[in-house]
Amino acid sequence: MTKSIDYLIQPGGKLTGRIRVPGDKSISHRSVMLGSLAEGETRVTGLLEGEDVLSTLGAFRAMGVRAEGPVQGKLVIQGAGLHGLKAPAKPLDMGNSGTAMRLMAGILAGQSFDSELIGDESLSKRPMKRVSEPLGRMGAVIETAEGGRPPLRIRGGHKLRGIEYPMPVASAQVKSSLLLAGLYAEGETSVTEPAPTRDHTERMLRGFDYGVKTGGARISLRGGGRLKACSIDVPADISSATFFLVGASIAAGSDLLLEHVGINPTRIGVLNILRLMGANLELLNTREVGGEPVADIRVRAAQLRGIRIPEDQVPLAIDEFPALFIAAACASGETVLTGAHELRVKESDRIAVMAQGLKWLGIDARETPDGIIIKGGRLQGGEIDSHGDHRIAMSFAMAGLVAAGSIKVRDCKNVDTSFPGFVELARHAGLTLEAK
Ligand code: S3P
Repeated sequence: MTKSIDYLIQPGGKLTGRIRVPGDKSISHRSVMLGSLAEGETRVTGLLEGEDVLSTLGAFRAMGVRAEGPVQGKLVIQGAGLHGLKAPAKPLDMGNSGTAMRLMAGILAGQSFDSELIGDESLSKRPMKRVSEPLGRMGAVIETAEGGRPPLRIRGGHKLRGIEYPMPVASAQVKSSLLLAGLYAEGETSVTEPAPTRDHTERMLRGFDYGVKTGGARISLRGGGRLKACSIDVPADISSATFFLVGASIAAGSDLLLEHVGINPTRIGVLNILRLMGANLELLNTREVGGEPVADIRVRAAQLRGIRIPEDQVPLAIDEFPALFIAAACASGETVLTGAHELRVKESDRIAVMAQGLKWLGIDARETPDGIIIKGGRLQGGEIDSHGDHRIAMSFAMAGLVAAGSIKVRDCKNVDTSFPGFVELARHAGLTLEAK
């Protein structure tokens, strides 16, 4: 059993200077996956060396893929080709990562060998039927535990055929899982999204010279092609930058520059929402790097106001709500979120866990079935349980900047899944944070 880690944050301080947060988690997973399935050598820079991405890399290594690194974000993968993976000797452990499990399910459904995907306690509770059911329609044979939960036992050697799939939930993971299975399917695989979700899979497939058609909400590809190795420069993760965008917005006197942040239009809900709340954000040096838009973001402290969050922004900010709830707690007036039921099936039930934590810190936060109502107020000091959820832990760490007393956040070990080095970087920027 690894030792648990708690954060202790002292109030006061501001966030200043220039920092670069680690690489984008979604893009990092996909670069390992497509690089492993490509023909030739794929060179990745800026890779997130978080535990989630290392789970994905470990899975491909267990299936015979050779890769050097990662060292300081550099990874060189010798692609095995779409049909070059070997049967793994044991179950593939996806750790805490829903993205890894759902996307790998799509890839493994197309293999000639059997495989099994397992995960940690949190992942073992998360819904997998959303991928096993449509993959089954494509001809995959996947057995889940009760209630459609992990582990997933995937039978190899079943021929896949393309399907036309209207997605019931706006989920990039479901879309990506089906598109990856579609690489192995006969004919065309298409998904239609109820609302736009992150499009990194489509962009990266094109970067690997694989044809993907996008027409409105419908995305499709044909099986039977090949992926051609390429170079990938992973931008800094806007989801990780979010903690600093919120921290600097709420802490008086802050002026912080976040370098090289990915600002893909399907990921910038957090910028749109913070701006509606009155945040002072400036996008500088906007450029395109390897098919993904990137900018430096300058954020200065501002008086935030409560808003009704537009529902069309929800899928575009889906991972950013724990931090946005801290912003709402510091805003004047009420913030109302609706249409965000998906938050209940993330690494924790983020509506329940955040509402509970905010209440412990003296904030009026009321859960609704698909959202929350938060009345801005004065955050008190206190003790919070992150429920092992990395984003909850980092969000409450930022709350510590402006609380009336010190905040202790329990169970922060999983911050390493998405943001290795968070403590050092946050301290460097001005947060008085101790990890023990
Ligand atoms: C991700 C998609 C999102 C997000 C997750 C990463 C991805 O999940 O919450 O952290 O990389 O495709 P859903 O697609 O389930 O909303």
